[in-house]
Amino acid sequence: MHIAFLNPQGNFDPNDSYWTEHPDFGGQLVYVKEIAIAMAALGHQVDIITRKIVDPQWPEFAETLDSYPGVDGVRIVRIACGPEFFLPKEELWPLLGSQWVPNIIAFYQQEGSMPNAVTTHYGDGGLAGALFAQQTGIPYTFTGHSLGAQKMDKLHAAPDNLETLDRRYHFARRIFAERVSMNYASRVITSTQQERLEQYGHPAYHGAIDPADETRFAVTPPGVNRVVFSPDANETDKIVAARINVVLKRDIEPARHDLPIALASSRLDAKKNHIGLVRAFAESQELQTKANLAIAMRGLDDPLRRYASLSKEERTLMDEIVAIIKQHALWGKVTSFPLNSQAELAAAYRVLAGRRSVFALTALYEPFGLAPLEAMSCGLPAVVTQNGGPSESMLEDGREFGVLVDPSDPANIARGLLRAVESPESWQKLHQAGIERVVSKYTWERTAEGYLNVIEAIVKENRRDGGLTIPPYFTDPAPFANQISSEDLANVYF
Ligand code: F6P
Repeated sequence: MHIAFLNPQGNFDPNDSYWTEHPDFGGQLVYVKEIAIAMAALGHQVDIITRKIVDPQWPEFAETLDSYPGVDGVRIVRIACGPEFFLPKEELWPLLGSQWVPNIIAFYQQEGSMPNAVTTHYGDGGLAGALFAQQTGIPYTFTGHSLGAQKMDKLHAAPDNLETLDRRYHFARRIFAERVSMNYASRVITSTQQERLEQYGHPAYHGAIDPADETRFAVTPPGVNRVVFSPDANETDKIVAARINVVLKRDIEPARHDLPIALASSRLDAKKNHIGLVRAFAESQELQTKANLAIAMRGLDDPLRRYASLSKEERTLMDEIVAIIKQHALWGKVTSFPLNSQAELAAAYRVLAGRRSVFALTALYEPFGLAPLEAMSCGLPAVVTQNGGPSESMLEDGREFGVLVDPSDPANIARGLLRAVESPESWQKLHQAGIERVVSKYTWERTAEGYLNVIEAIVKENRRDGGLTIPPYFTDPAPFANQISSEDLANVYF
């Protein structure tokens, strides 16, 4: 089959330029690239369609066609719209229907053949998919990645700040584009059932999709990169093991050097609930006799003691962590070490698995929870929040693959961590179950197969016309006459 991925924002190139450095080059790009490559490996022809940018500050994206070295069957196709220079994703809305989609159609017409199906990513890709489908009859799937209504909720959108938020983030355009995207999609793809029910059930999407209608959705979780997150040691492991030994000597009482380590490795953000984890450790004497605690924060050498380089919000959280450490006399039991790349993170997981340790992610809520699966893939058992995606990935039909804990209850977190480290048998059982879980359900090959099953079904169906009126703003070459206003937004959001 010939499948096109519509992903206007960010961009793709053989070096994965700007990944994680720029907000438009986030996890969505990893997701699209990995699935595209996995689909091609299964024998399909894939085009990742993105925006052509001819801008000396963004020199990687000027050619129409590009590819990944050593990968057959995936083309990066860059199609122009609007000015030649780079535009952030918030500025793309008026260009997608009036220019990007007609230019994609012209590209394929010139080639003499159209794709069989399309997958679309984020509201901008979804809107383009709906308009492409209307004009060509080719069906599409929609994957939201991050929906505007949840972002508005996080920003505490209210009647008195709506206009200001809309001016900055263009939420009115985004929400209306998302409504069209989900309404016209042959299937909406989510990572978990919870995502379907909670995110698509938001009032902002009422009338566009019914989250209770299972026929409109397919749940296809993302995968772990098992080349990076492999249980097999490599050269990086030696470097990371040596680094961990150095910090153990620096921070941990000598008699405790051989204890397992409970590792938290994520952004220092209130939502990630480091405080709950540190409190769990502080309040459980039993856990303290069985394990040390490590908090890794990107490439920072010793953030527990030297945190001048942290942001204001991070410093506030670190002040609280250090206060708990002091109050409970935990110095000598707590450490930190730098992890500078995905390869080093994976190596740390393996090195810690060699010490019968455990990965801890006790976030207040985790939409999907890829990090614990990456740790498990390397053989490190995971103790994870029960709120959000992990409730589906760590438990199925009564079988446990990682330990779920209540992030609001330090005693419960401590009990969960103890379950992993209390005996070699319980550690071994979780270690084995974790690897098996990832291999059987959370690889990009499985994700690609999930997409392909859906695509095979939708190409046999009639293209879906959801019936929602597509605001003329999105198709008019002079869209400003047809602005979608913050009043229109208020009508659907509140
Ligand atoms: O990479 C994950 C992702 O959800 C992308 O899809 C998106 O570009 C980015 O995060 C930011 O999303 P938002 O516009 O909701 O802040």
